[in-house]
Amino acid sequence: MPVTNNDFSQVMFDRHSVRRFDPSVTIPRAELQAMIASATTAPSACNLQSWHFVVIDTPEAKAKFKQAAMAFNYPQVDTASAIVFIAGDTHSHLVYRDVWQKVYEAGKISKEKLDQIFNTFLPLYEHAGRDFLTLDATIDGAMVGMQLLLVARAHGYEANPFSGYDFKTVLPAVGLDPARFVPVMAIAIGRPAADVPVLKTQRYDSQTLTEFL
Ligand SMILES: Cc1cc2nc3c(=O)[nH]c(=O)nc-3n(C[C@H](O)[C@H](O)[C@H](O)COP(=O)(O)O)c2cc1C
Repeated sequence: MPVTNNDFSQVMFDRHSVRRFDPSVTIPRAELQAMIASATTAPSACNLQSWHFVVIDTPEAKAKFKQAAMAFNYPQVDTASAIVFIAGDTHSHLVYRDVWQKVYEAGKISKEKLDQIFNTFLPLYEHAGRDFLTLDATIDGAMVGMQLLLVARAHGYEANPFSGYDFKTVLPAVGLDPARFVPVMAIAIGRPAADVPVLKTQRYDSQTLTEFL
C-alpha cells in the first residue's frame, strides 16, 4: 500500500490518460480503499464532502457498469484493475452536523464557532434547490477525482478519468439512487498494457485563457 512515487513533478506533469491496462494486475481492495482515503483529503464546499465511491473490480461489476458505458470506453472497462465511479451526494448536508461536532469535541473549535458554522452554512443547504445541490456535489466530486488521479500515480498506477456513459442509466447500473446521487466521473486504474503508446496531449497557452482583472 505504499506511496511508491513521492516526486510531485513526476506525478503531476508525467500524468497522461492510459486507456488500456494489463488485465492480469489486481489491486488489493485495501489499497484501493487507502487511495480513496488519501484522495478525500481534497477540499470541499463547507467541508460537506459530497462525494461517494463505487469500486468496480470484478467481472460481474464490470458487466453491470458496461450496460451504461459508451462503447469507446470498453477497453478501459475491460482491462482496468479497478474503476472507481465517483458520484456526488446531494444529501451530504444531512450528516453535516456530525463532521463539525467531531471537530468541536476534539477541542479544535469553540462552541460559538460550532454554532456559527451550523447557523451560517446549514440553512444554505437545507433550503437549497436540486440545481444548487447538484452543482455543489459535482464540484466536490471533481476535486476528489483529480486527487485520485494523482494518488493512483503516486501508488505506481496509471489512470483514465472518463464520463462517457449514459448519465441517465449509470447510477442504477452501479446501484445508486438517482434521487440522491449525481454522476461525476469514473476513473479506470491499473498498470499500462505492455504495448500501450503514451499520448502526450497538448494544452493551450495559458496566457490566451487568462485575464487579470
Ligand atoms: C470530465 C472528463 C471526461 C472524460 N471522458 C472521457 C471518456 O469518456 N473517454 C476517454 O477515453 N477519456 C475521457 N477523458 C479523458 C480526456 O480525454 C483526457 O484527460 C484529455 O484528452 C487530456 O489527456 P490526458 O489525460 O492524457 O492529459 C475525460 C476527462 C475528463 C476530465
